[in-house]
Amino acid sequence: MKKLTRGYVISPIALSLMLSTGAIYAEDNGSLSPIEELGKKIYFDETLSLRENQACASCHVPDAGWVGDDSEINAHGAVYEGSVKHQFGNRKPPSAAYATVAPIFYADFGNRLLGDNDGDLEFDPLFVGGNFWDGRATGWELGNPAADQAQGPFLNPVEQALPDMACVVYKVCEGEYGELFNKVWNPTLCRTLGEAWPNNIKGQCRQADGVIELSNQDRNRVDMAYDRVALSIAAFEGSSEVNAFTSKIDAHRAGEYDFNDQEIMGRDIFRGKGMCSDCHVGSRGPGDAPPLFTDFTYDNLGVPKNPENPATINGFVDPGLAGFLENVDGYAEYAATNLGKSKVPTLRNVGLGSCEANPDDEDCIVKAYMHNGFFKSLKSVVHFYNTRDVKPSCESLDIFDATEEIALANDCWPAPEVTENVNTDELGDLGLTEEEEDALVAWMMAMSDGYLDDDDDADEDD
Ligand code: HEC
Ligand code: HEC
Repeated sequence: MKKLTRGYVISPIALSLMLSTGAIYAEDNGSLSPIEELGKKIYFDETLSLRENQACASCHVPDAGWVGDDSEINAHGAVYEGSVKHQFGNRKPPSAAYATVAPIFYADFGNRLLGDNDGDLEFDPLFVGGNFWDGRATGWELGNPAADQAQGPFLNPVEQALPDMACVVYKVCEGEYGELFNKVWNPTLCRTLGEAWPNNIKGQCRQADGVIELSNQDRNRVDMAYDRVALSIAAFEGSSEVNAFTSKIDAHRAGEYDFNDQEIMGRDIFRGKGMCSDCHVGSRGPGDAPPLFTDFTYDNLGVPKNPENPATINGFVDPGLAGFLENVDGYAEYAATNLGKSKVPTLRNVGLGSCEANPDDEDCIVKAYMHNGFFKSLKSVVHFYNTRDVKPSCESLDIFDATEEIALANDCWPAPEVTENVNTDELGDLGLTEEEEDALVAWMMAMSDGYLDDDDDADEDD
């Protein structure tokens, strides 16, 4: 069980990293610093996986808005295969961009953000921050959720699947950008480890199991280097190349774009009767970042299960935030009231590269939305918010295990994946017309990066 007190420990390296690179969000200076460049090389390096066939970028593709870009997968189960064939994750990849801006996971016992709820809720904390749909990459280890997150995939059997973190460090130190690692972090770390690697390490790193034999001292060096690998990735993820802030909305803030009538209508509904900005807030984010369109809290929207997700077919029901809280001292008692809640994701880039945005582009991507990828278009997401509680349930029409396509064809919505804790205050029956639904989609399309040139200053105040 994790200890709560770790929430208050920020390691000195992490802190200096955050200060030196502004990992919160980077100034747009058009080029990457050495640590960001190092992180980028690691992020795109497919050799850092068991079969040397998968990098972070395989599931978080820039042109797709830093999510998975395989239309076939997105159109169905929406979960990605790892380095090893037939090993799947159980959730849809969220955006790797704007993840560094998430606050370190914490419980707000003051309930400041909940405001006007009934008295019973007064003592139930509101959980905020972290990375992953369930917040379990807290930032308690390395001082930034995205850095904690970056340590996971290399060793996760359904992702890059390496048997030992020493394999990652070995490959980074001995690889073509080993010198850059030395320059950025510590000229002696890799050199000292160079004497320590067992002769058969290459072969061992091609096996799914096993531990690389190292002395305690070298094991500590590996730990240290592995932290630096993660911090380098987080620095890249916090750079102006990833957290670009170059959408039409940023351009507008910089006085370089005028919204059209449909976008203005969408914005007004987003803030008004759509209630979207209750959770996808449009005010400035942590560190005075431009709007992230998330308040970093958790909610159960009553999203249906994705019947094509292999994990779901095997009986997996996503516990969301509860699955993480259960394992934390002091938080476990709040698991039940957080069952089925997923993190409010950023809406930046949700439409980027999508066939919805570019229907005539033959390279366009069918995208998937929500933690399980049930939805395949922003239009149907909006339609769900609008009509969840208005249409009949598919089950009442004797339609079971409906996909989005089947639900739309039959004008019904399937039951929620998790029926507990469904939010009925802010969605379900919004009374929006078709024109208003389309306007909301247009407004979200205005959140796609790439409108402003890279050299333009997107961070100017409005
Ligand atoms: C096989 C596909 C796959 C690979 C490879 C992969 N990821 Fe992910 N990533 C996912 C999935 C799925 C999730 C969500 C998991 C969850 O919530 O439980 C995720 C979550 C994340 C998040 C959290 C974003 C947020 O806002 O919560 C970040 C950041 C991220 N990945 C970065 C990386 C980095 C860095 C690497 C390489 C070290 C990587 N990913 C490798 C699939 C992948
Ligand atoms: C009560 C808080 C709340 C409100 C209000 C809300 N959302 Fe969300 N939104 C969420 C949460 C939580 C998720 C993730 C849920 C999940 O995956 O199960 C989400 C997911 C999404 C996604 C999918 C993003 C992705 O990366 O998969 C889109 C798009 C979206 N919301 C748009 C909207 C729009 C448009 C509105 C207004 C009509 C709105 N939201 C209102 C909390 C909210």
